[in-house]
Amino acid sequence: MELDDAHLRELLEIAKKASINSFAPFSNFPVGATLLTSNGKIFAGCNVENSSYGLSICAERVAVFKAISEGERDFLALAIFAPIIATPCGACLQVLSQFVRSPNDFLIISSDKEGNVEKWTLSQLFPLPFTF
Ligand code: THU
Repeated sequence: MELDDAHLRELLEIAKKASINSFAPFSNFPVGATLLTSNGKIFAGCNVENSSYGLSICAERVAVFKAISEGERDFLALAIFAPIIATPCGACLQVLSQFVRSPNDFLIISSDKEGNVEKWTLSQLFPLPFTF
């Protein structure tokens, strides 16, 4: 599937909507993420924090785990919406790397609340994932 600009904007729009459900009373940093599968399905997630801080989970991993638990394992792109341009944390990049078949082609696109947008590939952000 070819990802044009309109498609990427739509993914960011869905990530923005997902960020509304963020539970982030401790950081006050709401994040939304949208994962696109190769068959065109979309899984959105938000960050969910906890009073026991270490139990909090990022928006990106929520989106990945939703997709995996629904039987989807073939991913094309991830869109992130946050107050400032955010790259996925190392834990999320490792989790993504477990499933992305072609890290050179997997697109990560990030928008802040002003509408500034940046793009990377997974291999640019995480060139050497741990594999076992
Ligand atoms: N967070 C995400 O959900 N995704 C990112 O890409 C960066 C960080 C969350 C974790 C925590 O709930 C809050 O943002 C501040 O770190």
